[in-house]
Amino acid sequence: MSIAVQVAGAPGSVPRENSLTTLTHRRATRADCRLLAALNHQLIRDEGHRNPMTEAQLAQRMRGWLARGEYRAELFEERGEVVAYALYRESADEIYLRHLFVARNRRRQGLGRRAMRLLIDEIWPRGRRLTVEVLCANTAGIAFWKAMGYREYSLGLEIMPPPQSMAAAGVSKSRRVLARLGF
Ligand SMILES: CC(C)(COP(=O)(O)OP(=O)(O)OC[C@H]1O[C@@H](n2cnc3c(N)ncnc32)[C@H](O)[C@@H]1OP(=O)(O)O)[C@@H](O)C(=O)NCCC(=O)NCCS
Repeated sequence: MSIAVQVAGAPGSVPRENSLTTLTHRRATRADCRLLAALNHQLIRDEGHRNPMTEAQLAQRMRGWLARGEYRAELFEERGEVVAYALYRESADEIYLRHLFVARNRRRQGLGRRAMRLLIDEIWPRGRRLTVEVLCANTAGIAFWKAMGYREYSLGLEIMPPPQSMAAAGVSKSRRVLARLGF
């Protein structure tokens, strides 16, 4: 089950952060895909997603997304060290933020807020509807998006198939175990 949330109206409502260090940003390229995949792998675990892809598979998916221009990724750096990344898709009226990840040892220091500030003030075109999707069990993520000004818009529901029918459909054993555990 996932909740889709959006920012309505002026996105400038993300509160200002307090920090003395400089957070810089740069557009990710193909050369960054392995790093992005490693961070994506951590993000999947941290948010409790069911996605079973390996880092190698995630790197391949990321390369495809960036090469086709389907998504753009932005890396956020402090003193030359990557501390966060965002992956998003732009359309005429919407910016869908698919990933936002802050390094595990750097959370609750305002970096997520600062990254959002940079996206909204410097990177994204203005005047678009801003959307994210967040898993219901990701309570930290939900609290973060709400603090950033996003509001609930739709609620995704599901009924998982029983394990036997998943086996018949060729779903792997590890995937079935994860599904039974609710991941
Ligand atoms: C969600 C995430 C991006 C937040 O980044 P962060 O740098 O830790 O967030 P910030 O320090 O900027 O927090 C900004 C505000 O969000 C809220 N918030 C952030 N993390 C929170 C948590 N664990 N619990 C409750 N509120 C939280 C707070 O209101 C916080 O303000 P405060 O610190 O003044 O109380 C980070 O925890 C992360 O990468 N999580 C794993 C990946 C993920 O779940 N991404 C989002 C779903 S795609």
